[in-house]
Amino acid sequence: SNRTFTMIKPDATSKGHTGAILDQIIKAGFSIKAMKWTRLTTEQAGLFYDIHRERPFFGELVDFMSSGPIVAAILEKDNAVADFRKLIGATNPAQAEEGTIRKQFAASVGENAVHGSDSDENAVIEGDFFFSKLERY
Ligand code: GTP
Ligand code: MG
Repeated sequence: SNRTFTMIKPDATSKGHTGAILDQIIKAGFSIKAMKWTRLTTEQAGLFYDIHRERPFFGELVDFMSSGPIVAAILEKDNAVADFRKLIGATNPAQAEEGTIRKQFAASVGENAVHGSDSDENAVIEGDFFFSKLERY
């Protein structure tokens, strides 16, 4: 597929990094097919990250993801899922490559600035979680 799904997480929106992050995403060749600024409840964050429900950090993750506004977007580019994960860098910013979004903007493994889908299948599921047919093209 040529699509992925992203969120700019509450740490990055609250520090004023939204514009800089979107600029890098666009300059890397991704086009925006849908986008919204919103805020998740803890219940909604738990549904989005349901796959991590049994992990020890689940409570921290849903509290953080519902702590402030996020930007959700569907992105299009050839090889979108893999190329986007390369652009954002490793989950832990301490291990992220120079120049990646997480290296530049993330503070810790928990508060790591951006989300990127990990498969074509999850990109569709996650895009559908946030956007109706009317809101994407
Ligand atoms: P996403 O793009 O957000 O899915 O990150 P990822 O695919 O690089 O990592 P993964 O799916 O394994 O984990 C999902 C999210 O859970 C991470 O982005 C972190 O925000 C959070 N997370 C992962 N590991 C830890 C951890 O050890 N502690 C805390 N507090 N959060 C974690
Ligand atoms: Mg993930």
